Amino acid sequence: MSIARAWVMCERLDRLRARGARSVWALVAGAAAGMAACVGEAPPPPGGEAAVTPAAFAEGERRYDATCAACHGPRGTGTDRGPPLVHRVYEPSHHGDAAFLVAVRQGVRAHHWRFGDMPPVPGVSEPDVVAIVAYVRWLQRQAGID
Ligand code: HEC
Repeated sequence: MSIARAWVMCERLDRLRARGARSVWALVAGAAAGMAACVGEAPPPPGGEAAVTPAAFAEGERRYDATCAACHGPRGTGTDRGPPLVHRVYEPSHHGDAAFLVAVRQGVRAHHWRFGDMPPVPGVSEPDVVAIVAYVRWLQRQAGID
C-alpha cells in the first residue's frame, strides 16, 4: 500500500473514530497488517491511560477545555464537530503555532476534513492561545507526534 493511500485510510479512520464508531477499533485490529502504521499514529482512545497533565500545561488545558474541547474533543481527540488536534496533520511542521492564533481569530474554512468551517472563537487572548498551543503540543508529543 502506498504511503498516500495509507494516509487517506488513516484520515478516514480518524473521522469514523471522531464520530464515535467504536467498531473501528475492531476493524483496525482485524486489518492489522496493512494498517499497522495507521494504528501507530492514532492518539490513545478517549478514556485510555492518558498521562497526568504536568503543572506547566494545566492553564492551557483549562483554556482548551473551556474553548476548544467542544469540537476538538477532550485531550485533542476530536468529536463529531471537529477534528482531533492530536494528529499528524497538526504536527508543528505542518501547522505551526501561528496557525492556531489565525484559526482562533479568523476561523478556518473546511479544507482538511468534512466537519464544516471552524468559526472564530471570541474571548480568547493571545496568551491564552500560547498556553493552549503548549498544551496541545504536549499532548501531541505524548502520542509521538512532534
Ligand atoms: C465550533 C467548533 C470548533 C471550535 C469551538 C474550535 N474549532 Fe478548531 N477547528 C474546527 C474544525 C471543524 C476544523 C477543521 C477545518 C478543516 O480543516 O476542515 C478546525 C481546525 C482547527 C485548526 C487547524 C487550522 C488550519 O490551519 O488548518 C486549529 C489550529 C484549530 N482548529 C484550533 C482550535 C483552537 C485552539 C480552538 C479553541 C480556542 C478551536 N480550534 C475551537 C472546529 C472548531
